[in-house]
Amino acid sequence: ALPARVRIHEVGARDGLQNESALVPVEVKAEFIGRLAAAGLRTVEATSFVHPKWVPQLADAEQLMPRLADLRTRYPGLRLPVLVPNERGLDRALAHGADEVAVFASATESFARRNLNRSVAEVLEMFRPVVERATDQGVAVRGYLSMCFGDPWEGRVAPGQVVAAGLRLLELGCTELSLGDTIGVATPGQVGGLLEAFDKAGVPVDRLAVHFHDTYGQALSNTLAALRHGVSVVDSSAGGLGGCPYAKSATGNLATEDLVWMLHGLGIETGVDLAELVATSSWLAGRLGRPSPSRTVRALAGQ
Ligand code: HMG
Ligand code: MG
Repeated sequence: ALPARVRIHEVGARDGLQNESALVPVEVKAEFIGRLAAAGLRTVEATSFVHPKWVPQLADAEQLMPRLADLRTRYPGLRLPVLVPNERGLDRALAHGADEVAVFASATESFARRNLNRSVAEVLEMFRPVVERATDQGVAVRGYLSMCFGDPWEGRVAPGQVVAAGLRLLELGCTELSLGDTIGVATPGQVGGLLEAFDKAGVPVDRLAVHFHDTYGQALSNTLAALRHGVSVVDSSAGGLGGCPYAKSATGNLATEDLVWMLHGLGIETGVDLAELVATSSWLAGRLGRPSPSRTVRALAGQ
């Protein structure tokens, strides 16, 4: 059976904009996030408190946060998580009012090294005090796991390797684990296989989210496979923005509009107003100077 409702974890302002070559002004980012909330999205990842030299697109995190403060009063229940790689990032995030954070590990050594300059084991050790301190302060921590299906340097990734790393993130105290197909190579059979492996390892499916990139056009099929396995939290990015600057061949995330079109067609509730979301992505595409890659945006906005 499919879930009656899916919670969309919107990552356009973070995963999307971190990979745009254009530097988007902070006022435009704040307006983008405000419009996503107005369109009904209730989990909107806002930015990253990573090293500004590593991700210059999000170097304005400190300037962005105060511009989002009144959204929480305007939209009760709105969650605005931010990425933090280490204690320095957590300090910055907490000082600027973050009430939910995410750490991000890798199932593969090659990507851990390129993305965080450390081995997988060192990355997890770096996160330990982050998760502890955040949890002590009542700040929930999501755990991302990258390269869950394939890795550009290592090829296909074995489910056992992914489950081992995922279990460590959950043991550290992450409340949710987002399984990332960072480079968008997965196909639905692999998704089912990985979710079964987590099930066998005793991880309840309500702790899992899926995070698909659409490089090979498989993101929606993969999402449907995950829904059939009981997953009900899906990451996507408005207009299909995105990628990852440290993974060659990563293109945009699954577009939120494409996801909403499928979910509503299946009778699954999302709380999202699709017309308002399409208008938002069209507006941002205009600011970025290029059309949205989302098929649904193109169909509905006539781009
Ligand atoms: P490092 O060079 O090893 O840093 O980078 P370090 O720990 O050696 O520290 C060096 C200097 O950086 C120090 O300053 C620190 O204070 C400073 P110094 O003492 O030399 O003056 N520093 C910081 N400054 C600001 N904010 C911080 C911070 N941390 C250290 N948080 C580091 C390690 C983690 C910093 C670096 O590798 C980094 O920032 N990486 C971020 C990479 C990233 O953001 N990637 C994209 C997100 S992941 C993704 O997109 C995948 C996902 O979507 C899921 C999927 O699709 O798979 C989530
Ligand atoms: Mg991603």
